[in-house]
Amino acid sequence: MQRVIKRTGDGSPTFFVPELNEYYHSMYGAIQESVFIYIDKVLRQVQKSKVRVFETGFGSGLNAFLSCRAAENWKKDICYHSVEMYPLQKSEWLEFAGYLSEIIEDSLLFGRLHECAWEKEEQISRFFRLKKIKADLTTYHSAETYDAIYFDAFGPDVQTELWTPDIFRNIFKMMNPGAILSTYSSSGQVKRNMQSAGLMVERIPGPPGKRQIILATKPLN
Ligand SMILES: C[S@@+](CC[C@H](N)C(=O)[O-])C[C@H]1O[C@@H](n2cnc3c(N)ncnc32)[C@H](O)[C@@H]1O
Repeated sequence: MQRVIKRTGDGSPTFFVPELNEYYHSMYGAIQESVFIYIDKVLRQVQKSKVRVFETGFGSGLNAFLSCRAAENWKKDICYHSVEMYPLQKSEWLEFAGYLSEIIEDSLLFGRLHECAWEKEEQISRFFRLKKIKADLTTYHSAETYDAIYFDAFGPDVQTELWTPDIFRNIFKMMNPGAILSTYSSSGQVKRNMQSAGLMVERIPGPPGKRQIILATKPLN
């Protein structure tokens, strides 16, 4: 998969995939979007001292990096599992890290997220553990459960197979009661597919450039 780095509106980088005409993050601001949708709307909301996160699409590692920084700032244990079918080449994440280091410190931490082994839970920093899983989300099943889901696949228009009722039923099983899922999509079909899987779904105002996003919760009982 060919990927090109682009600088987004807040100065942070993202990848663009020409064959899909898809970006990894919003061109209005990659960090701004990630912090808004995943850190603030999900991670910050989990009222537990130890939080388990599941991400669909490790990608550039930006969501993981911002979650790791949050874990250190909040002194809150985070165990972060992420599936990815097309991991970056080292040259790609190094180039990405170069862009990132122009606007944010901790590029060492960012490197650690990429250097660590796959398929194995690794202690990245004092409060942050990471397991990167090379797998296809459409066939991925796990008995592990999570408090927070970052649903960050490519868009439903280009990868319809990642946003189906079956996928959300599978994710539902991986959610603890009360767990929260957030995604940048606001599609009506996605909302209905999530509802058919048993999730309580709402649309809320999104970050700059996105009128709305979807937030979904697993009922407590
Ligand atoms: C929107 S990007 C994710 C961005 C990422 N969360 C980040 O912080 O950079 C979508 C990701 O899903 C991955 N992907 C595409 N198809 C997949 C599949 N079937 N299973 C798992 N990951 C997939 C892509 O390679 C890409 O990294």
